[in-house]
Amino acid sequence: MRHMRIAVIGGTGHIGTYLCPRLVEAGHRVLSISRSLREPYAPHPAWHDVQRVTMDRVGEEQAGTFGAAIKALKSDVVIDLTCYTVDSARHLVQALAGDVQHFLHCGTIWIHGPGCEVPTSEQDSRAPISDYGRRKLEIEEYLLAEARRNRFPATILHPGHLVGQGWVPLNPAANFNSRVFSDLAQGREITLPNLGMETVHHVHADDVAQAFLRAVSCWSASVGESFHVVSPAAVTLRGYAEAVANWFGRAAQIRCVPWEEWKQSVNEQDAGITWDHIARSPNCSIAKAQRLLGYQPRYRSLEAIREAVQWLVASGVIEA
Ligand SMILES: NC(=O)c1ccc[n+]([C@@H]2O[C@H](COP(=O)([O-])OP(=O)(O)OC[C@H]3O[C@@H](n4cnc5c(N)ncnc54)[C@H](OP(=O)(O)O)[C@@H]3O)[C@@H](O)[C@H]2O)c1
Repeated sequence: MRHMRIAVIGGTGHIGTYLCPRLVEAGHRVLSISRSLREPYAPHPAWHDVQRVTMDRVGEEQAGTFGAAIKALKSDVVIDLTCYTVDSARHLVQALAGDVQHFLHCGTIWIHGPGCEVPTSEQDSRAPISDYGRRKLEIEEYLLAEARRNRFPATILHPGHLVGQGWVPLNPAANFNSRVFSDLAQGREITLPNLGMETVHHVHADDVAQAFLRAVSCWSASVGESFHVVSPAAVTLRGYAEAVANWFGRAAQIRCVPWEEWKQSVNEQDAGITWDHIARSPNCSIAKAQRLLGYQPRYRSLEAIREAVQWLVASGVIEA
C-alpha cells in the first residue's frame, strides 16, 4: 500500500488509542487532532511519530473555520471519529471535496433499532430509537449520497460497544457500573432485567482500528459503503454474567426480575443506560466487512471484555 498522510480527528480517544499506532506501523504519516486535554488510554512507542494538532472542533465549527483548518493539514485521508451532526459532516465535506482521496466517518450500530432477522445486516431497514442514532443515520445517508452523486470518497464504519484497556466496558446488566463486575467476582447475587436474554454487541477498539486500516487499504471496495464493525457474535446478558463469574472461579448468582421492578433497584442513570441497550438488543453481522475488507476481528466479545476486566482488577476499579 502506498504510504499516505492521514489525519485522525479525535485521535486520542478509545479508538484513536489503537488506531494511530496501527496507522504509523503501517507506514503512514499520522496527524491526531484534539484539544490535547487528554492522553491516549495506553502508551505506545508509535505515538512519538504521531503529529499532535491541537484544535477545538466545537469552537472552530462555530467560527466556520474547522473545515478550512482540516484542509490546511493537506492530508490524503481524513478519519473523522467525532462527528455527531449532519451539519458538522456537511461543513467538513464542503471543505474537503476534491481535496482528499478518502474520508472515513465513525458511525454506530445504534443507527439500527430493534432487529428482526438477526444478525442484522447493513441492508436491513433502520429504525433508530434515539436522537443519537437518528443523527448518526442522517450523517450516513448524507455521506453515502455525497459519495454516489458527487463522488465524494466517503466510507462509514459502525462500531458496537467499545472495549479496551483503560475504561469500564458495558457490563452484564448493560450499563457501566463497575460494581456489577465486582459483585460477580466476589460471588454476590446480581439481578438482571426480564429473562437476561437480551443481547449486547461489543467490539475491541483495536478491532475497530483494524477495520479503519483495512478500509483505507481497500479504497475501491470501501468508498460509498458502510460496514458494521463488531465482534463475531453478540452475547446475552445472562451468558455474559455467567462467563464473568467463571473468570473468578465462581458460579454466577443471577436473579431475573421484570423490567419495571428491576429499574427501581438501580439508580436512574444506570436504568436509563440499561434500557438504551436492551431496547435495541443489538446483534449485528460482520459478513460484509469480512467479505469486502477482509476484516478478521482478533477478539470475540468475551475475550475483549476479559482483557479489559483484568486491567480494571489490576487498577483496583473492580474488586475481585
Ligand atoms: N463509545 C462507544 O462505545 C461507541 C460505540 C459505537 C460508536 N462510537 C462512536 O465512536 C466515536 C467516538 O470515538 P471514541 O470513543 O474513540 O472517542 P472518545 O474516546 O470520546 O475520544 C474523543 C476524542 O476527540 C477529542 N475531542 C473531544 N472533544 C473535542 C473537541 N471539541 N475538539 C477537538 N477534539 C475533541 C478527544 O481529545 P481531547 O479531549 O483532548 O480534545 C479525543 O481525542 C463516535 O463517533 C461515536 O459515535 C462509540
